[in-house]
Amino acid sequence: MIELNANQIAEATGGRLTATVDPNSVVTSANTDSREMNPGALFIARRGQTTDGHNFITAARQAGATLILAERETQDGLGAIDPAVIVEDSTQAMGHLARYIVDKIREHSETTVIAITGSVGKTSTKDALAAMLATQGPTTAPQGSYNGEVGVPLTIFTAALDTRYLVVEMGADRIGNITELTDIVRPDISVVLTVGTAHAASFGSVDNIAQTKGEIVEALPAGGIAVLNADDIRVAEMAERVPDQASTLWFSAAYAPPQRERLVYAADAATTKNENPHFTLQYFGSDADEADRTGYDVTAQLIGEHHTTNLLAAATAAFAADIPLDTIASLIPTITATSAHRMARTDRPDGITILDDAYNANPESMRAGLKTLAMLGRNTGRRTWAVLGPMLELGDAHAKEHILLGEVVVRLNIDQLVVVGSTARALYTGAVNEGSWGDEVDYVLSNDEALELLAQHVEPGDIIFVKGSNGTRLWELADQLTTAQLVAHKEKRK
Ligand SMILES: Nc1ncnc2c1ncn2[C@@H]1O[C@H](COP(=O)(O)OP(=O)(O)OP(=O)(O)O)[C@@H](O)[C@H]1O
Ligand SMILES: [Mg+2]
Repeated sequence: MIELNANQIAEATGGRLTATVDPNSVVTSANTDSREMNPGALFIARRGQTTDGHNFITAARQAGATLILAERETQDGLGAIDPAVIVEDSTQAMGHLARYIVDKIREHSETTVIAITGSVGKTSTKDALAAMLATQGPTTAPQGSYNGEVGVPLTIFTAALDTRYLVVEMGADRIGNITELTDIVRPDISVVLTVGTAHAASFGSVDNIAQTKGEIVEALPAGGIAVLNADDIRVAEMAERVPDQASTLWFSAAYAPPQRERLVYAADAATTKNENPHFTLQYFGSDADEADRTGYDVTAQLIGEHHTTNLLAAATAAFAADIPLDTIASLIPTITATSAHRMARTDRPDGITILDDAYNANPESMRAGLKTLAMLGRNTGRRTWAVLGPMLELGDAHAKEHILLGEVVVRLNIDQLVVVGSTARALYTGAVNEGSWGDEVDYVLSNDEALELLAQHVEPGDIIFVKGSNGTRLWELADQLTTAQLVAHKEKRK
């Protein structure tokens, strides 16, 4: 984090300093987790859903925190008031502090801020974009999937003063959420991937989701650039919400004769035998030079056709940030999945392949992952297993979406389905009813049962795909599967 003194933090947050604050004290990092403190840290005490950070102030100070951001005065073990900046709402104060830091970073040197939203693919796109930008200048991007009122400020707290590119992921679960985040970072480039059904329950309708995601382009300043997915009608409609002084760059993963000006697209998009996307990266527009118009052939390392969209989004955002298209094309093959559990492929020595996509799940990402699994099976003649947990947060659509997904598994000709957890039971029902399946589908209640079942039945050559909502911890099963004894275990049982 940039170095800040106590007065600056009070100024940024509109807070008041306790009498015990040493006016010369400076902080060089900030976090809400008392286990992540180091000397010179600012500990932010916030009330979370399950715990109250104010209970950890002593621990944070013992771990080196020099200053606290809190909603009330607290005392240390000796009865002395902890040195703190007192604010009304710590979470909001984090946003204000982050905004202040973004200002300082911008004042120091040229900085381009790129914000990414969408119902699916944000983290994948953010990781790809950050990897590209990091070759061009100091880049700050979120850890994992940090994308909310806490994650966005925490990302900014990690930024250095000389940050050239700041990449921010933005998630939302209600109208106004994205505006709260754009108020903090004020993006120069805003990327919208898709409008899907993620968090449909809290939004009430898909229209509300589109309304909220579009807030990201409304926030653009004069000269700002909206990067919009031409293949998603609800995203394309957001072009009308781009302020007059800003402009739009389009991307499309579908090959069609380009229909729009200023379009970065994938011509001849396909996948290799290992389901790595390959395509010709092209730019169509009256300002396009000949080489960009003809394009550059690329093959990515990421797995799954759906990454074509994410790579194009990242490429277009980098292009909007003035990186030449040929440079971008040369970087695409170097990009790997940096955040965990996103189509992570492990080829075990016994010939079994684990595809761990267990970071999270919703109907769109489930279909994308299952399609990739089906294609891999078809390309290689190997047997495919889908080990699926529930998709959470679907509200009233829960049963219907699970039944539909069960049908999809059958229609994709996945060889074996293992449904994990009672919340996912409708998935089992959907598959059974669609396919008159018998042995091809199993229903188990826990990760342990799933592991046991797989250990008994998998064989060398099988591909096991694991996916479910984050809250169900299916990634623990995926982790176990990468190392557990599977085939040998089975032989022992005979
Ligand atoms: N364009 C896409 N279409 C369909 N599925 C995708 C796409 N991109 C990624 N996925 C899949 O969706 C899941 C989530 O991907 P990712 O983490 O990139 O999305 P996200 O938008 O950041 O999600 P979250 O809102 O949970 O942070 C992964 O399983 C990934 O394989
Ligand atoms: Mg994410």
